[in-house]
Amino acid sequence: MSPFHLTRTLPEGATEAALRQDVLRGLTATPKTLPPKWFYDARGSELFDEITELPEYYPTRAEREILLARSTDVAAATGARTLVELGSGSSEKTRLLIDALTGTGALHTYVPVDVSESALTRAGHALVAERPGLRVHALIADFTAGLELPDSPGPRLLAFLGGTIGNLLPAERAAFLASVRALLAPGDALLLGTDLVKDERVLVRAYDDAAGVTAAFNKNVLTVVDRELGADFDPGAFDHVALWDAEREWIEMRLRSRTAQTVKVPALDLAVDFAAGEELRTEVSAKFRKEGVRAELRAAGLEPVHWWTDSEGRFALSLGVAR
Ligand code: SAH
Ligand code: TRP
Repeated sequence: MSPFHLTRTLPEGATEAALRQDVLRGLTATPKTLPPKWFYDARGSELFDEITELPEYYPTRAEREILLARSTDVAAATGARTLVELGSGSSEKTRLLIDALTGTGALHTYVPVDVSESALTRAGHALVAERPGLRVHALIADFTAGLELPDSPGPRLLAFLGGTIGNLLPAERAAFLASVRALLAPGDALLLGTDLVKDERVLVRAYDDAAGVTAAFNKNVLTVVDRELGADFDPGAFDHVALWDAEREWIEMRLRSRTAQTVKVPALDLAVDFAAGEELRTEVSAKFRKEGVRAELRAAGLEPVHWWTDSEGRFALSLGVAR
C-alpha cells in the first residue's frame, strides 16, 4: 500500500454547487459578502504561502516559534498515534509536530484535511518522501461540514493552526468546536492556534502588506468566481481594504468597488450592481484573548490544559483535552 492516500469526501460536482449557492447568497445580500474558503484554488494556496513569508505577516513565525519550543511537550501530553490537521495547507509548521510525535515512537498516521487539492497533494507527497514510515491519509473536505475521519489508531491529536479559527464568525466557531469535540474520544486533544489582540497598526499591516501580496490574494476570490461561474469581475476594478473592528476584535477584509459597475454571473443568471465605493466583505480574522479562548474550549467540552505564547506574546497555542 502506498503511504500516501487521498480521499475526496465531497461528491463530484458538490464543490461547484456549494460555490453557486454561496455566491448567489453573498452577492444578493446587504452588505455583500463571499465566504473565505473560495480563496484557495491552486493560485490562492500559492499566494497564501507567499503571505506567510512576508515581513509584515508575523503569525506564521510566531506560531513556528511556539511549535519549536513546545512540540515535545505536546507529544508527551498527548501520546498521539493519529495527527489530524484541519486546513493543513502546505503542512510546513506541522513537520515540527510530526517529528516530535515520531520521536515518542507513537505516530502512525497523519491526516491533513483541506479544500485545496493542490496543497494537499504537494504536501502529502513531500511528507511521505521525507519521512519514511509515515502514513499520510489526506482528505479533501470542508472542515465546517460534517467531517468524517478515516479509521486510524488513537489517541488522536487534532491540530488547527494558523489562526484559521479566527476566519469563522463567533456562532460558526461554537458550532465548529462542538463538531471537533464530536470527532474526539475522551482523552484525545485539540491543539489550537489563535492570533492575539495587539496594536492595531501591527494587525492591519499583517493584512495589508507593502508588496501587495495580500491584496492579490483577496482579489483572487474574484478570479475564482470568474473562472468557475463565468462571471466578469475585473479584479483591477476593486481595491483591497483591511480594517480593524475594535469592538468585535477582528480584522475585516473587503474589496471596494472603484466605480459604479455591474458584474454579470451567467451561471446564476445574475447581474450584480456595485455603487462606487461599495464594499464586499471577503473575510474576518478574529483576534483572541486568553480568557475568551479558554471559555470557548470549555463550552465545547474541551478542558484547556496548556496555553503557550511566543516570546513577544503575539500568538498562542492552546491544548484542550476532550472530557
Ligand atoms: N495551516 C496552514 C494554512 C492556513 S491558511 C498555516 O497555518 O499556514 C487556511 C487553510 O485552510 C488553507 O489551506 C485553506 O485551503 C484551508 N481552508 C479554508 N477554509 C476551509 C474549509 N472550510 N475546509 C477545509 N479547509 C479550508
Ligand atoms: N487564517 C489566515 C489569517 O486569518 C488567513 C489569511 C491571512 C488571510 N491573510 C489573509 C485571509 C488575507 C484573507 C486575506 O491570518
